[in-house]
Amino acid sequence: MIEIRAEHLHDIPARERLLDTCFPGHRRAKTSERLREGRLPARGLAFAATRRGRLVGTLRLWHVETGDARPALLLGPLAVDPAIQGQGLGSVMMQAALGRAESLGHGAVLLVGDAPYYARFGFDRALAEGLTLPGPFERARFLGLELRAGALAGAEGLVRATGVLSPVEAVANEAQVARRRAA
Ligand SMILES: CC(C)(COP(=O)(O)OP(=O)(O)OC[C@H]1O[C@@H](n2cnc3c(N)ncnc32)[C@H](O)[C@@H]1OP(=O)(O)O)[C@@H](O)C(=O)NCCC(=O)NCCS
Repeated sequence: MIEIRAEHLHDIPARERLLDTCFPGHRRAKTSERLREGRLPARGLAFAATRRGRLVGTLRLWHVETGDARPALLLGPLAVDPAIQGQGLGSVMMQAALGRAESLGHGAVLLVGDAPYYARFGFDRALAEGLTLPGPFERARFLGLELRAGALAGAEGLVRATGVLSPVEAVANEAQVARRRAA
């Protein structure tokens, strides 16, 4: 049986291994990563799927804001253990995550991913048409979903990260500010 639950700190090493397996190469070079690095995922929106205690799926959502100051979530990465891909876990995790996001009051979700997969959950490139990302991306893979009608209508501008800084990043930032003040 597979359990979908909130991600815990102790999931991180297995999660990193799963992501390395599912995204071989330069996953950290992706433009979406610029909106996630040094931040914490949105509260209540980091999920782990486990089977007999082993991590077999991961999905996170992150706080971002559009250029015209609309709050949204950035979804990703989503990954399922190759041994059980195609058995529905990705879809179940997506439905669970989107349902939770909606119940928490979020209005919109953005992602960069395979449109043929994400279209089944309602994602549409037209909703992200006026938006750009802080780095190169394929327009056809930049998709949006409205959890609240009109949340992305006419949205435009550069998407930026708004999530809480991770503790390590917060300390590094404070040190940088202190260095600047001392200079
Ligand atoms: C994409 C992924 C998360 C899907 O999870 P999953 O548990 O295998 O998916 P499900 O079983 O819920 O759905 C399977 C369906 O999705 C389709 N599908 C899977 N990956 C797809 C993709 N990249 N593009 C289009 N369709 C895809 C399958 O063909 C299958 O279609 P069907 O329902 O018509 O038979 C998983 O395959 C994975 O981890 N892939 C590697 C990492 C990745 O590509 N992540 C997504 C970033 S775009």
